Amino acid sequence: MNTMLERKRQYEADCEAAVKAGRKKEAIICAARAAELAFKLAERTDGAIAQRYVEDAEGWLEIGEKLKAKGLKTGGSGQRTEAGGQKSEEDKKIQVSSFKSQVSPEDDSSEGSEWLIGEKPNMTFDKICGMVDAKEAIMQMVVYPLKQPEKSQALGLNPGGGVLLYGPPGNGKTLLGKAIAGELDCPFFYASGAQIRSKWHGESEQRLSKLLKSAQACQVAVLFLDEVEGLLPKRGGNSQVDNRIVTQFLADVGGFSESKNTLLILGATNKPWDIDEAVFRTGRFDEKIYISPPDHPARHGILQMEIKGVNMEAGFDAAHWAERLDGYSGSDIVGIMKSAKRISLGRAIREDADAVLKVEDVEGALNKIPSSITDRMLKEYEKFREQRFS
Ligand SMILES: Nc1ncnc2c1ncn2[C@@H]1O[C@H](COP(=O)(O)OP(=O)(O)O)[C@@H](O)[C@H]1O
Ligand SMILES: [Mg+2]
Repeated sequence: MNTMLERKRQYEADCEAAVKAGRKKEAIICAARAAELAFKLAERTDGAIAQRYVEDAEGWLEIGEKLKAKGLKTGGSGQRTEAGGQKSEEDKKIQVSSFKSQVSPEDDSSEGSEWLIGEKPNMTFDKICGMVDAKEAIMQMVVYPLKQPEKSQALGLNPGGGVLLYGPPGNGKTLLGKAIAGELDCPFFYASGAQIRSKWHGESEQRLSKLLKSAQACQVAVLFLDEVEGLLPKRGGNSQVDNRIVTQFLADVGGFSESKNTLLILGATNKPWDIDEAVFRTGRFDEKIYISPPDHPARHGILQMEIKGVNMEAGFDAAHWAERLDGYSGSDIVGIMKSAKRISLGRAIREDADAVLKVEDVEGALNKIPSSITDRMLKEYEKFREQRFS
């Protein structure tokens, strides 16, 4: 039985073939079917992956519209049609929008490839402000050994292993995971605990197991488990699923140590205390990195990114605002700036004037949006680190 993803790929291929052969009607129908299946896949996934499917679907709808508008010349052999021209925008779009699998051919568990981010996320380390220590630790542990395997082998270093990123929400853990994928030239699998648990209720452990196996089948792969506490919660409670999923994970990961392939597991969590303790004992997360709220230089950097190319009132002092935003999370700061921009737009429209972001707009937004991080929260992380990781 073909899965939805396989059927979508078939329609994509059929669409391209029909375009090349000049069969317009068939090409339009195939593009529409591919779009329909991409929307269905978006419904069945969430987060970044769902977003990618939506974009994919929109891409196919656009291709369909263009095909309708342009018409195709019926082409003989070797004759390129307008819409199927070798370097046409449509062709590029087809390449860009299709969700290519990089799973090795022997692995056809398409449930696994549903989680695969086949294209590299458009995120790199230089777009992350601050986090100097975390970035350096990741470079040493993951990026250098994978980029220069001879050097790490000469030192007896193995690039695989696990890293746990933990800390209060909104400070760039997910961002860092995406940047690692952007820096590395290898398949990147992403799943969030909440996603696996809610979507695959009752069969979460099989899903996680399939995901792990897909990642392990690659010679080198990075597996990012976001909200990992939802995936590997403390066992012993009433939930059979919780108990089974942790046991299965430990078994799968334990079995992997025999393999020659390299798998890096990155876990991210706001609630490290909810993770089952056996997960730490396996040594799978042998590096634990605390991702703190941004310090002054990082807040300054985030502000500068937010005002880049923006029509600012003269005299906006980013360093001063970085000082005032002490205690706010990275995403709080992004949220405040977004809100300030909306206030500014509202005024520009009301007064039929030029849109200018003013200091008073940022002030107004700051008054509306409180910090999402409390001292009590920070103390909990500190306590956890002392008790568990030192
Ligand atoms: N250090 C940072 N540099 C740049 N942007 C940041 C940083 N920290 C947070 N952000 C912003 O906040 C948003 C949320 O961050 P995210 O990675 O989802 O946080 P977490 O996973 O820790 O909850 C990001 O998309 C980004 O816009
Ligand atoms: Mg996150």
